Amino acid sequence: MLLTNFVTIAILIAGAASAPQGTRKNNAKTNANLNQIRGNGQGIQAAQQRAGSGVKIIEKIVQPTAGDPTFLQFRVAMPQTITPDMGLNVLLHGDGGQSFFAMPNAKLDSNLIGVTVLAPNAPMKWGGLGNNRPDGPQHATLVKDLVKSVLPQMMPGFNQSRVYFTGVSGGSLTLTSAMIPLYGSMFQSGWLIMCGGLPSPNGIPASAIGPNTRIHVQTTINELAFLKQSIPPALADLNQAIAKVPGITPQQAATQFTFDGTPNGGHCAFDGQGFSSGIQAVVSQFTALMLNGQPARGITAANLTPLAQARPFGAAAGQAQNRAKKSNAKNGANNANGRKGKK
Ligand SMILES: *[C@@H]1O[C@H](CO)[C@@H](O)[C@H](O)[C@H]1NC(C)=O
Repeated sequence: MLLTNFVTIAILIAGAASAPQGTRKNNAKTNANLNQIRGNGQGIQAAQQRAGSGVKIIEKIVQPTAGDPTFLQFRVAMPQTITPDMGLNVLLHGDGGQSFFAMPNAKLDSNLIGVTVLAPNAPMKWGGLGNNRPDGPQHATLVKDLVKSVLPQMMPGFNQSRVYFTGVSGGSLTLTSAMIPLYGSMFQSGWLIMCGGLPSPNGIPASAIGPNTRIHVQTTINELAFLKQSIPPALADLNQAIAKVPGITPQQAATQFTFDGTPNGGHCAFDGQGFSSGIQAVVSQFTALMLNGQPARGITAANLTPLAQARPFGAAAGQAQNRAKKSNAKNGANNANGRKGKK
């Protein structure tokens, strides 16, 4: 077992270091082996208790994307009856999978059905290994197909125009660097981005953000060093796209796209206590924070900061992006060219 894991990780690292096609091929092969439900139902009972008797946690594994053999494991907090006003809150966990198993979104909240999805690799890391998450686009496609193809068949009748996403740490890296840029145009309800962010190689197109898309980015003061580097340029990407969305006034943008970085805690410890309790505390206030434009009690400042004015960790988002651009240019012409081409 240990040896198998070691070989798997070695293949992933080898894949990440070679050409993009090589990465895809190797990962597809590696991921295809993960065709059994992992985790032995860990966390289901506790999530079931929090969700209440009207909701049943179910777990499945599927191959959501035609032509990609990768299996995707997911859990749904399924209500007894699905009504047409019900939408989804799809959560992507942080590295190692804690929130997949804990399901902080298990309780039906504002008629949003909680879904958690497990990263399709052995270390349970969305976007693959390394801080630049090279498998982000592939993973984003798998999640998109799960939501667009698998879930509507499995639970017909929910409102497909009402799909929110919640990212935790590594999950937020994949949402900001791949999911929003590639598939934001299909999902225009809202994005709760917690304790993570990564710029996309090609930026974010304006079409990824709709006239009513809600975005809130939540960090803490004592964030991890590498995230202090990657979150500011990710916010700059979002702000650049938001500025190009037609018909959104600055006044509207100030409450629709928000940021808060005030909690005095470590990585994801929004309650100042711990990782899982901090995440649960924010997700429990999803309705207030994401739908009602209110602060999260005991977590955020009384007034959320407009995303355009966000200065996470004291850095100006614009300056941070310039730094990122320079380092991209150093690391390879692809990224810098991609950004130029978008303009
Ligand atoms: C489905 O969601 C959209 C977007 O939030 C909303 O405009 C529409 O009214 C919803 N439909 C139902 C039946 O609730």
